[in-house]
Amino acid sequence: MRIGYGEDAHRLVEGRPLWIGGVAVPSDRGAEAHSDGDALLHALTDAVLSALGLGDIGMHFPNDAAVNRGRASSEFLSHALELARERDLAVRQVSAVVILDRPKLGPAREAILARLSDLLGLSPDMIGLTFKTSEGLAPDHVQARAMVWLD
Ligand code: C5P
Ligand code: MG
Repeated sequence: MRIGYGEDAHRLVEGRPLWIGGVAVPSDRGAEAHSDGDALLHALTDAVLSALGLGDIGMHFPNDAAVNRGRASSEFLSHALELARERDLAVRQVSAVVILDRPKLGPAREAILARLSDLLGLSPDMIGLTFKTSEGLAPDHVQARAMVWLD
């Protein structure tokens, strides 16, 4: 059994899509990033890599490499899950937090859960997803934190 934890943050800017958990959420701003800037998938990927003792996302996908520009973050997570599979491990449970002042993510909850369930090969009832505002402390950022259990 292994447990991993990961975090991520991105600045919000106009003219970018807002990707959360592999879902493009309607928003007037999105994450500034080399990749698609999906903070939740980045935190999840780091959590899996951390559980495996295999470093972090930047070691596997350098953010100054042209090949990673605009890349779908689902590919980063899939890579980490493949590394788990090679070690006869699979994600059994996820607990994650997204911190974002606006937009409200509640309306996208079902879509995000469905997408995460699909990406992780995990029943939605094993995915805990919490949405929080920063209470104005970080209005121009999206942040994510994720804990995973692999077995
Ligand atoms: O941060 P705060 O506790 O005020 O958030 C209240 C509730 O608003 C959260 O429990 C969550 O259900 C919802 N929320 C949301 N989308 C966000 C932030 C919070 O749906 N971006
Ligand atoms: Mg990131």
